[in-house]
Amino acid sequence: MDNKFLWGSATAAYQCEGAWNEDGKGLSNWDVFCHSEKNNVNPVTGDVASDHYHRYEEDIKMMAEGGQNAYRFSIAWTRILPNGVGEVNQKGIDFYHRLIDTCLKHEIEPLVTLYHYDLPQKLFEKGGWENRETTDAFEEYAKVCFKEFGDRVKYWMTINEPNYDTLCSYAIGNYPPNVQSLSRRWHAMYHLMLASAKAVNTYRKLGLNGEIGLVSDSYSIEALEDTPAYNQAKKNADLFFNRSVNDVCVYGHYPEQFIQKLVSDGVDTSYMFEEDKKIFQTGTIDFLGINAYDRILVKPYTSGETILTNNNTGTGDGPKAVIKDWFEFDDDPTTEKNPWGMEIYPKSIYDLLLELKALYPTTPVIITENGIGNYDKFINGEIKDPYRIDYLKGFIENMLEAKTKGCDVRGYLVWSTMDLYSWINGYEKRYGLVYVDFDNENQRTPKESYYWYRDFIRNYEE
Ligand code: NOJ
Repeated sequence: MDNKFLWGSATAAYQCEGAWNEDGKGLSNWDVFCHSEKNNVNPVTGDVASDHYHRYEEDIKMMAEGGQNAYRFSIAWTRILPNGVGEVNQKGIDFYHRLIDTCLKHEIEPLVTLYHYDLPQKLFEKGGWENRETTDAFEEYAKVCFKEFGDRVKYWMTINEPNYDTLCSYAIGNYPPNVQSLSRRWHAMYHLMLASAKAVNTYRKLGLNGEIGLVSDSYSIEALEDTPAYNQAKKNADLFFNRSVNDVCVYGHYPEQFIQKLVSDGVDTSYMFEEDKKIFQTGTIDFLGINAYDRILVKPYTSGETILTNNNTGTGDGPKAVIKDWFEFDDDPTTEKNPWGMEIYPKSIYDLLLELKALYPTTPVIITENGIGNYDKFINGEIKDPYRIDYLKGFIENMLEAKTKGCDVRGYLVWSTMDLYSWINGYEKRYGLVYVDFDNENQRTPKESYYWYRDFIRNYEE
């Protein structure tokens, strides 16, 4: 990895590109879900989104003017292979060539995620991530991308958030396929991890000059009490959210205690083949991408069936979880929350980075996402978002403090580059450094936080 610290921002294809059916793109599960009656919380789609497909030049130029030297985006699998496998769509390939070349023209390092929630509908219909064949399809797709773009892309990320993605899709049930079953969740997540390891192996075989990682939403797991029961709940939550992903891609195997927990839960693990062990062992990553937003506060499990909920309306309480025989979510009533109940706790990134250093001392980290959603207001041509500046400042300071304690952090990317489609939270939950006027031809206006970030980067000295 080269030495320059990466300061930038991030997006994902379905959330910002739009052009959902242009230039030969195939349908993804999100295209279909958003057009269905199941999309009933905020019934809007990513059909146009931030129109990044047509406005990427303006967006990248704005990043460069904002002092950013790195842009993380994802490739829409369905633009490259409209059916998930087989026929390659040249126009889709051409788009990402243009995107990458525009980044390089502006001296912006492209960091490319291969899979960020949007699965080709053709694969989704055949069982999606619960079907082992999807792991082979992903390997095929990854290979096409490595060969096309691997000469210029030096940072690859296989999968975005195996934990949160499967939690929403298979446990909370608010993302397609809207299932509520932890055992199905573990099945899908296993295949995501396997797909990642397969892609890493393919990348190594091609002998390209670059680094490959995975993006893990990881959390500092904390408790309000220090008792054996609370400490056990913390350990369980760490396995549940963090180590079931991070151990696998860093060390190449599942933690023994995690497998034991699945067995004692009665989860059928017959899909974990013996031959996969070698794939995991050889498919370990070069860096860990970390999406860091908040900590997780837990308490011991007491009673009741497993239940997980999220706040997707921007009113009411935060996320809730009772995971039978594992842990329950706790709440600290004294801390500040955003309207979706996300706790604002900047020290969590410091605690997390130190924890990652202890567990994976030789693995570099890139903060691939950090940011805060809010109801930003466009008033008299300006967007004042002091809450975002405070949040980013707090997280960056804590990250830099961890760096001085020896944590090998190589980059930091704000979520998000501009406002975009926040999955089923819709468009009102804005994260961007740049405001997008969705009702007015998607016009861009930098927010106060954009200028703050620009000045911060300008003054940063390593
Ligand atoms: C993480 C996900 O990667 C991204 O797609 C999402 O919009 C942000 N979190 C904000 O919730």
